[in-house]
Amino acid sequence: MSLFRRTASRAAQASPARAHYVRGCRQGKLTVTPCAKHAARRGFATTPSSASAAYSRWAFLLGAGLAVSGAATFLYTKQETPTSLEAVHAPSQEDYQKVYNEVARLLAEMDEYDDGSYGPVVLRLSWHASGTYDKNTGTGGSNGATMRFAPESNHGANLGLVNARDFLEPVKKMFPWISYSDLWTLAGVTAVQELGGPTVPWRPGRHDADSKACTPDGRLPNAAKGPSHLRDIFYRMGFDDREIVALSGAHALGRAHTDRTGYEGPWDFSPTVFTNEFFRLLVEEDWLQREWEGPLQYTDKTTKTLMMLPTDMALVEDAGFRPHVERYAKDSDVFFQEFADAYVKLLELGVPFKGDGSERWVFERSD
Ligand code: HEM
Repeated sequence: MSLFRRTASRAAQASPARAHYVRGCRQGKLTVTPCAKHAARRGFATTPSSASAAYSRWAFLLGAGLAVSGAATFLYTKQETPTSLEAVHAPSQEDYQKVYNEVARLLAEMDEYDDGSYGPVVLRLSWHASGTYDKNTGTGGSNGATMRFAPESNHGANLGLVNARDFLEPVKKMFPWISYSDLWTLAGVTAVQELGGPTVPWRPGRHDADSKACTPDGRLPNAAKGPSHLRDIFYRMGFDDREIVALSGAHALGRAHTDRTGYEGPWDFSPTVFTNEFFRLLVEEDWLQREWEGPLQYTDKTTKTLMMLPTDMALVEDAGFRPHVERYAKDSDVFFQEFADAYVKLLELGVPFKGDGSERWVFERSD
């Protein structure tokens, strides 16, 4: 059964009166809905009985036309049509769960990539799509998915994210009704949950934009810089110190790649499992400047196989950030909760949702 028919029949069960308007409109022709038929009948009945057959036909057509347009005007002025249409066209939570399931299936199946999962790079895609938000101008954010286009796709910070975008392309083909911007953010949620992280409620409503909406380079953080840069970047999005630290805990996942950013290596020993290890290692391990040809980064004294970026080190060095690093290092549950809250906020920056957000959905994890 097609998506439309499924949603239409669901809507019909839930709200029979609304559903019939929508079916009439959906067929894309002047289908006379029961309501309009009723109005047309009224128009025909008022036609003088002495009129010729031709006149009657014209009068019927005119009456039917007026009735249909009257019904449309009524529906428009009552704002019934858009609402009803959306109610039926809007995919349900069940439909988005299918998207989630497909992303989860591909994450499990395509385990040859990097440390065995596309999850980290998919999570990074969702963050870089959202982290361009500027609260002062209302520009940027996940709405638009403008990283599909140059120049944004070529911004230094986004190098390598083509892997995540390509990974998600078959999902977009399978579910063409979902916007890229909803897909990328939902895929980020899927990655977090499927790699053992917290439950992240999510809601749809993002619309794709064209290349004119690309944000200027420089809105994402520069890993070579210090605490004041981190604050400049994240305060611009509307985050505070606690949220900056919580979000940075995503570096428990994945690794840096020399051919993308110049940095190299994973932050912990389980880069495909979402944990609070990033914070524990930051606090408990001794970090030394790595001696190499690449940009300044840190390496753990014990094994010399892990890495920290200068911005990661800023989290333990700065008096405003450090208490949160210590809290998260001690208590994984607190980190999970505060990461989830900040990540929900990140994914929704600048998105013109309708409603108050009470309709966020929680998706079931795969078995
Ligand atoms: C605080 C400022 C941040 C800086 C300066 C930063 C910088 C970086 C850099 C340089 C990399 C290496 C990319 C590569 O070479 O492939 C990286 C990877 C990553 N970042 Fe961040 N990041 C920051 C915050 C975040 C946030 C807020 C998230 C998510 C909520 C995040 C998620 C990730 C993930 C998952 C990876 C691994 C990607 C992979 O394995 O391909 N980062 N980040």
